[in-house]
Amino acid sequence: MRAVGGVQAGNGVASDCRSCLCPAVTFKQRIQGRPLVYLDNAATSQKPRQVLQALDEYYREYNSNVHRGVHALSARATREYELAREKVAAFIGARSALEVVFTRNASEAVNLVAQTWGAQHVHAGDEIVVSVAEHHSNLVPWQLLAQRTGAVLRHVPLTRDTQELDLVALVHASNVLGGVTPAETVCEMARAVGARVLLDCCQSVPNRPVDVQALGADWIVASGHKMCAPTGIGFLWGRYDLLESMPPWMGGGEMIEDVFLDHSTFAPPPTRFEAGTPSIAQAIGLGAACDYLASLGMARIEEHERQLGTHLFEQLRSINDVEVYGPPPTAKLGRMALATFNVRGIHPTDISAILDQSGVAVRSGHMCTAPLHRELGLPASVRASPYFYNSLAEIDVFIEALKDAISFFR
Ligand SMILES: Cc1ncc(COP(=O)(O)O)c(C=O)c1O
Ligand SMILES: *[C@@H]1O[C@H](CO)[C@@H](O)[C@H](O)[C@H]1NC(C)=O
Repeated sequence: MRAVGGVQAGNGVASDCRSCLCPAVTFKQRIQGRPLVYLDNAATSQKPRQVLQALDEYYREYNSNVHRGVHALSARATREYELAREKVAAFIGARSALEVVFTRNASEAVNLVAQTWGAQHVHAGDEIVVSVAEHHSNLVPWQLLAQRTGAVLRHVPLTRDTQELDLVALVHASNVLGGVTPAETVCEMARAVGARVLLDCCQSVPNRPVDVQALGADWIVASGHKMCAPTGIGFLWGRYDLLESMPPWMGGGEMIEDVFLDHSTFAPPPTRFEAGTPSIAQAIGLGAACDYLASLGMARIEEHERQLGTHLFEQLRSINDVEVYGPPPTAKLGRMALATFNVRGIHPTDISAILDQSGVAVRSGHMCTAPLHRELGLPASVRASPYFYNSLAEIDVFIEALKDAISFFR
């Protein structure tokens, strides 16, 4: 599957949205003879031409290792790799590019914090607070840390007050409920009791302006592949003084200052946390993705997605026997442009399989949130997740296909 940036018309589905960003990416794909309606963006996004071009350019023109050679190619690769770090830093409002650690994905970024800061600061009896809505990526690393240290893992509803916390690890925008965590308030409350906060921004950074300084968190994590970049690249942002206090994680090349036979000294952050040859092309691709999203304007993307999300929610809610989870679009903090739902009496897998026959790609299963599904009393669900390049007309194609699917099963 391939998305091509440009100003061509959409994918064949007529567009009728007001703040339309959909021509920015054009799908040439047809599925089962129908124009593809890709609504699985919360899992991974399509890639615009600008990002594909950045990858192509790296491999064709200056493929080389970073930080290692003085020859021209290596110097250019290093420059572009570090420039990508600056682009990510600017995209999230970081004070400095030195606060951005490239990881392979968000899961790795969470594990990095759990196994460095966590291993040093979390002790038996300490509390690690997560929500019941966490993605497995922001839950399992803390379970492992709690098991190793004897810390207590607590799962609270997002609105409940807590005291004497050591660490709060919360999802910023849920990949299932679509709800948004009042992050500024949580960070303030946590600070008041001396706790550190890690925010899982995998679903917020791609879809709305995120400013790490305004949020007030200690760390955030995100994944490149959900924001137009390739797989194999994600990042950890952390306050520099905190990163500086964190011990090395994985050992190897790049992350050292000097190496002796029996011991080593370590580079300052972010290099300290980037052992081995990094995902060079992917990082450069992430830089290009930040440029691309910034050129569209994150506020514009947020507004377009608000329209898509509201339409999606309202249309789904108007269908008999459909239950949509999470807060309504009128909730104080709004709602992300995704809708997770079930149709009474029809298995989610059957729904997504029959939607696929209409060229509509949605996700079904537990979306890596098994505990949340248990909490909701659901074995599974279906999720439709548009991105900025989707149109209101595509939402309508999905809704019509869903109605057809329901009548097929009745
Ligand atoms: C909210 C949330 N957190 C974490 C992740 C994990 O990201 P990755 O698989 O890139 O590590 C995802 C996506 O899968 C997600 O939606
Ligand atoms: C995501 O990170 C994990 C942990 O470091 C790694 O094992 C996995 O290969 C990564 N995925 C990709 C696509 O790079």
